[in-house]
Amino acid sequence: MTKHKIILDTDPGIDDAMAIFFAFQSPEIEVLGLTTVFGNVPVTMAAKNALILCELAELDIPVCKGVAMPWVGPESGYAHFVHGDDGFGNINPPDPKGKIDPRSSAEFIIEMARKYPGEITLVAVGPLGNLALALRLEPELPKLLKAVNVMGGAAFVPGNVTPVAEANIWNDAYAAEIVFAADWELNMFGLDVTYDLPFAPNFIDILAEKNPTLGGFVNRASQFYTDFYSQGKDTRQCYFHDAFPIAYILEPSLFEMTEGNVRVSTDKLNQGQTSFAPFGTTASPDWLEASTINVATKVDHPKLTELFINTYAL
Ligand code: RIB
Ligand code: CA
Repeated sequence: MTKHKIILDTDPGIDDAMAIFFAFQSPEIEVLGLTTVFGNVPVTMAAKNALILCELAELDIPVCKGVAMPWVGPESGYAHFVHGDDGFGNINPPDPKGKIDPRSSAEFIIEMARKYPGEITLVAVGPLGNLALALRLEPELPKLLKAVNVMGGAAFVPGNVTPVAEANIWNDAYAAEIVFAADWELNMFGLDVTYDLPFAPNFIDILAEKNPTLGGFVNRASQFYTDFYSQGKDTRQCYFHDAFPIAYILEPSLFEMTEGNVRVSTDKLNQGQTSFAPFGTTASPDWLEASTINVATKVDHPKLTELFINTYAL
């Protein structure tokens, strides 16, 4: 079986951890490396956390450190109130023993894309600064990658940072604009699908039961995360946003994708808004000239949940 080659660009992060283990567990996926970026936590912590996850999974792959700041503007605030002071729900795992790869995230992406032209799907589940930088350093990157699957954006639903913007896109809107405007296959998995599937505590209990090491880690880290997502709700729940673009690689038929034109806003009030016009809904030249992407608009909940559980159980 030829495996799907991926690079995971990530800001771990609890749902990042769940997604990374999901990819590690799949026999159909080869993770070439983890490239890290600021986002949920500062980039130094993101890189350290990525190393912790690799060591827990006993997987020796490169972990690179990437951009620490948005493309434009000051350092971001981080999401410790969602992911804990350590990015893992304050469970404070031991420091990793391994070392961060000397290549920057952007350098690693370019090097791998040149080595395996047309074979790699870049799965981006944090702010998009590494990918924007890689595009600037290697303008041929769109021809060298197979596809870019992004967790981010909100096409037809409200945002989670502002009324119009999702966190990953809002955190580095200028970088996102560069990435969304590039000429590659871009598949967007935004809040349209990820907020549509809340996970109850029994889901993380099942992950822990099926896979005590990796699922157990996700379970412990997710307690704090579930507290955050359950505020004001009658039942406890959380969301595993970052696993969706990986699931699409394994089972594209679980998703309904809508093709259309997109623009990312960089103006202050609408920063990070992903405005989306499905094909046939506008005749405006400005919109018809905007880049084309595929947006996930529906997902099969029972089958996706089953895919996560079965993969953790392997
Ligand atoms: O909006 C959800 C996204 O923001 C996820 O990638 C999560 O990890 C956070 O970074
Ligand atoms: Ca993330």
